[in-house]
Amino acid sequence: MKAPITVSVTGAAGQIGYALLFRIASGALFGPDQPVNLRLIEIEPALPTLEGVVMELDDCAFPLLREIVPTADLNEGFRGTNWALLVGSVPRKAGMERGDLLGINGKIFTGQGQAIAKNAASDVRTLVVGNPCNTNALICASNADGVPKDRFFAMTRLDENRAKSQLAKKSGAHHSEVTNLCIWGNHSATQYPDFTNAKINGKPATEVISDHEWLKGEFITTVQQRGAAIIKARGASSAASAANAAIDTVVSLVNPTPAGDWHSVAIYSDGSHYGIEKGIMASMPIRTVTNGTWEVVDGVPVDAFSQGKIDATINELLEEREAVQNLIPA
Ligand code: NAI
Repeated sequence: MKAPITVSVTGAAGQIGYALLFRIASGALFGPDQPVNLRLIEIEPALPTLEGVVMELDDCAFPLLREIVPTADLNEGFRGTNWALLVGSVPRKAGMERGDLLGINGKIFTGQGQAIAKNAASDVRTLVVGNPCNTNALICASNADGVPKDRFFAMTRLDENRAKSQLAKKSGAHHSEVTNLCIWGNHSATQYPDFTNAKINGKPATEVISDHEWLKGEFITTVQQRGAAIIKARGASSAASAANAAIDTVVSLVNPTPAGDWHSVAIYSDGSHYGIEKGIMASMPIRTVTNGTWEVVDGVPVDAFSQGKIDATINELLEEREAVQNLIPA
């Protein structure tokens, strides 16, 4: 039997947590012969609810699930972790400005970054889901002294999956036939789902879909505003699809990317790709080379339309960084 992989999940008693933990425990991240330990982190008031989730995990008797540690202590929660999935954050409340939200959540991620640096395994990788996820990930990475920045990611995979699904519906193809779909920039309403390089059954999406007005307009806004549309329809924010995207992200980061394709995830920009400034967490096309090694796919064509959209979302990330400058050590 292989040694277990330890996964820490924050916000484990929340909606996404509930949709995520059972899939991790059943082997969705690392396959059917890889045992996992779960370290479940919540704030104190949510510990009783988390206890209920742990009881349900127990009651599933998952063959791959070894240890479960529910805790409100960050040192305990990140001890020996190989994958930290940072889902928990404080939702935006009425009257709260975006800057306030950035500040409140930012403080959570300074502490978590420090605790990851202090306690996690030497190969730790961190995926931030809790919003505003790009800037939270930047704060986390900046406070995790000694952990390389290329081990931090922020989730834009749900946006990629949403975009693929929209292109599939419009063209009549199956969503598995849509490839090369990159989300650029921020996981927010400024994100740019790049249809100009997407392929459907190996052909450019712009050839398969002749309605270019739709691609440039409704397609983009549908993807950008999908989260709000789900809240309106369901009365609650997307949780199962977000959990699924978190799983997809980890799976794509531990398995080599199929030749010629890429996947979307926000990474720490080193300033050497697509003119994107150093020191923000920006989504761009990524290819996983081996487990633990990834690279930016360079040379993806960026036309004037795309460049305008990319500039807008990158500018938003720069503004967000400015707003939390006090949480990013020099
Ligand atoms: P939720 O409100 O149901 O659960 C959040 C949980 O986080 C709560 O149980 C809360 O107690 C916990 N929490 C709050 N502060 C914490 C802290 N400091 N440490 C540990 N746990 C803490 O929210 P839900 O639906 O599970 O969403 C979680 C986050 O994911 C939200 O920020 C949401 O906006 C974000 N999200 C991100 C997506 C993406 O594509 N990146 C997609 C969908 C949601």
